[in-house]
Amino acid sequence: MITRWLDTIDSTNSEALRHLEELPSGTVLAACEQTAGRGQRGNTWFTEPGKNLTFSIVLKQVGLKAADGIRLNALTSVAVASFLERYGAHPVIKWPNDIYVGGRKICGMLIENSLDGIMLGSSVIGIGINLNQREFPQLANATSLVLCTGKEEPLEEALNVFLDIFEGLLPSLGSESLWESYASHLFRLGETARYHDLLVDEEFTGVIEGVEEDGRLRVRDAAGKRRYYRFKEVSYIL
Ligand code: BTN
Repeated sequence: MITRWLDTIDSTNSEALRHLEELPSGTVLAACEQTAGRGQRGNTWFTEPGKNLTFSIVLKQVGLKAADGIRLNALTSVAVASFLERYGAHPVIKWPNDIYVGGRKICGMLIENSLDGIMLGSSVIGIGINLNQREFPQLANATSLVLCTGKEEPLEEALNVFLDIFEGLLPSLGSESLWESYASHLFRLGETARYHDLLVDEEFTGVIEGVEEDGRLRVRDAAGKRRYYRFKEVSYIL
């Protein structure tokens, strides 16, 4: 992988998308500061300049069908979880791809794919990991690695550690074991808790059992019925 550090940019995802054609697969754009970091659902991703990891990985033709694109989210989630574990934190994956430690969000990802027929063409995997930021004035539910471990980590070194883990996991992109490692990190796995089924607008009590090969979340409700959800079809009641 080839990493390019940028001092200031609006968003590493936007920059990668602007130059997608000329950027080779495996390029990583990392920013010291993002002025318009983008989050999911059109949200803004705010972080203090110079304190956190904000970067995008460009991958091309990974050999996945477009319908299996969710595997990239799973692989990236497992890579972030392994990275945080390397520093002694205990992360969980809040399905589908938010990473939490101690009930607070430490990492978010925004993966933007383009299609090539029925296959995935290019993917821009944007990742924000809170590393050395100690205060989150506007975000009640955020945390960082330093708040978990008490130790600051140099950004460049931490990014290299992450990229090594990510690259090491890439061969498992098409494998069954990917879902096993993903499911083993799931927030609330095996616990009884409340959910909101957005398909029928109903709250229910259930237990997350795991994920299907196609990435759907499998929840067993109190009546013993299995319910399967795609992204945005269910939400956690916290
Ligand atoms: C989320 O809403 O949880 C997703 C946040 C994704 C943030 C990262 S930071 C690097 C990359 N560039 C962006 O503009 N967004 C992603």
